[in-house]
Amino acid sequence: MTAITFDVQTRCFHLLNDRVSYILRLGAGAYPLHLYWGRRVRAVHDDLLSRLTPYTDETFSLHETPLDLLPQECPVMGGADLREGMLTVRHTDGTDALDLRYERHEILEGKPQLAGLPSARGEGARTLLLTLRDAESGLSVELAYTIYDDADIIARSARIINGGAQAVTLERALSACVDFEKADFSLVTLSGAWARERQASVRPLVQGDQGVSTTRGASSVQTNPFLALLAPGATETQGEVYAMALCYSGSFAASVQVDQHGMARAQIGIQPVNFSWTLAPGESFTTPEAYLCFSAEGLGGMSRQFHTLVHSHITTGRWARSERPLLVNNWEATYFGFDEEKLLSLARCAKDVGIDLFVLDDGWFGHRDADNSSLGDWVDDMRKLPHGLAGLSERIHALGMKFGLWVEPEMISPDSDLYRAHPDWCIHAGNRTRIESRHQLVLDLSREDVREYIVTSICAALRRGNVDYVKWDMNRNINMWGSACLSADRQKELGHRYILGLYEIMSRVVREFPDVLFESCAGGGGRFDLGLMCLMPQAWCSDDTDAWMRCRIQYATSYVFPPSTMGAHVSAVPNHQTGRISPLATRAAVAMGGTYGYELDLTRLPAEELEQIAALNRRVHAMQRVLLYGDFYRLRSPFAGNECAWMSVSPDRREAVVTHVTALAQPNFKPSPLRLAGLDPELDYRDEETGRVWGGDELMNYGFVPNAPWGDYTATQLHLKAL
Ligand code: DGJ
Repeated sequence: MTAITFDVQTRCFHLLNDRVSYILRLGAGAYPLHLYWGRRVRAVHDDLLSRLTPYTDETFSLHETPLDLLPQECPVMGGADLREGMLTVRHTDGTDALDLRYERHEILEGKPQLAGLPSARGEGARTLLLTLRDAESGLSVELAYTIYDDADIIARSARIINGGAQAVTLERALSACVDFEKADFSLVTLSGAWARERQASVRPLVQGDQGVSTTRGASSVQTNPFLALLAPGATETQGEVYAMALCYSGSFAASVQVDQHGMARAQIGIQPVNFSWTLAPGESFTTPEAYLCFSAEGLGGMSRQFHTLVHSHITTGRWARSERPLLVNNWEATYFGFDEEKLLSLARCAKDVGIDLFVLDDGWFGHRDADNSSLGDWVDDMRKLPHGLAGLSERIHALGMKFGLWVEPEMISPDSDLYRAHPDWCIHAGNRTRIESRHQLVLDLSREDVREYIVTSICAALRRGNVDYVKWDMNRNINMWGSACLSADRQKELGHRYILGLYEIMSRVVREFPDVLFESCAGGGGRFDLGLMCLMPQAWCSDDTDAWMRCRIQYATSYVFPPSTMGAHVSAVPNHQTGRISPLATRAAVAMGGTYGYELDLTRLPAEELEQIAALNRRVHAMQRVLLYGDFYRLRSPFAGNECAWMSVSPDRREAVVTHVTALAQPNFKPSPLRLAGLDPELDYRDEETGRVWGGDELMNYGFVPNAPWGDYTATQLHLKAL
């Protein structure tokens, strides 16, 4: 059960569910101050209140007691707090002063959706809307706090309303801030690069600024809109963890500032660099939503909270809680070199081994024989597809398979009819040289005519292809920012306008095809964020399909995102990104850590491997529910050594799948027992494959001993069912 109370005497707002409390207090002249976030407390008494004394009494004076010392809920720049705040404005006279004080509040059942932005749904939730106002300018800020009953998550966002008579420009508008009393935390972030996305890193906090951010126009492969703070002693399985994740797909900043007194301020939101937004009188601006997660069960507990949030409140539509089709994608099988006959032979072979869905990747349109042309020209290439998309789709469907299609709607190739007709439709800075990346430019999604073109042309292609699945790709970041349609003083709105435009076109296309399964992609996992997950329930995790690299990528991706969101495919050996050779069984076991598929030329495989693949597919179908939607436990970290292990357990704890991978084999090696988690200690479990039986208590307290590896990159997988 959730509750939100307001105590008139102490002026405390208390948001709580059965496990956590989040408490803020109006003090120091009616500023919302942060009092507590952590394990549930029933009520607030003196010691907790004293955190804010002597600053909350009526004698508070800004001149004597700077807000600099207080833990705040909505700190602003241009006031008495000299730390970095959530909000910076520029008034028409060029000054930036703000003094936001409590004006009113409202407590709602459920949760309002954010205007123009994806946001979590609110079943079983309650929301506090707290309005602050700057009397001098008339600017108001409405802070929204939602507490959930099924996940220990507080959703936060802010709406800034210009209630004054003059325009005001936002130069910084973050989504959430939490001021911690102490800074004895370790900071966990996810960073990487193309083909090495979301690698976990941990570092102690030090005085000053630290965090992750991007200015690339996308949440990016280089980092991810997430941070976690581990309290002393917190590990994967125990201890207190405070985390923040942002529901946004563009440039963001997630930072922790440790101040002179050792207090830590954690904030997350739209990247302030290259951002501004002008609000005319009466206009408002809504920040993306941030999710604050508290776990008393270490990083593992944090992840299970985020996974519940994703499954219960973020992903939506027909596929959100369904088993996903096993697919084969032709990208690594053919790249651009295919024709209809080649595709059909791949599809036939896939059908024979029990694959459900054939996905046609890049290269089916315009005259795209390489990555240097045709983006924007969504017309079938009749040289490669003599019967067009419609004919190919018909033939695939006739095999009894589903048909899926790759598109990259946000892009334009300079060598395209679209570019020749509309050279000003791309993002560009006046007459400066347009700097291409992968030979392409980015369409200006802040323009309505561009958005209309994309929705019309993409929907027409999807209809023509009678598609069951779509892979929505995006293969470059944005530079040389500029829009032909925005006035000089609004050019810095382009980054956010692009993302708003993206959400609009995606929502329209997704709404148009309610039965289609959508997977987002961005040159691998370059936009693996909760924003896109509200619209598309799965995302391609990385262009790196090497099994061991995927262990690392998927392991850390699971900090926030459940396996049901992670596109993961078995690919050829030697692997196309690393040259590594790993056994088929290992590649499959790792791909089962996400939404399962293949990305290789099945027609070239020997008969025994095809038989093995057919058996693997039956196995995936048998285990998929628990793999995708079970409670997820990380057991051994690939960032710590030579092994990686994880498991998923059904909600009734009667079924589990355990996967253990060893990187390099060592001679004369005695494997150590792998302790499992989440099982019922009172039940006995049998492995469906080998018939071996263990007690749940035995598996969790002693563990099971994986086979001593023979050869590199081997995997052991258990499919446990309660007897
Ligand atoms: C990048 C994606 O991540 C790949 O899977 C593939 O679709 C290529 N783009 C196609 O250009």
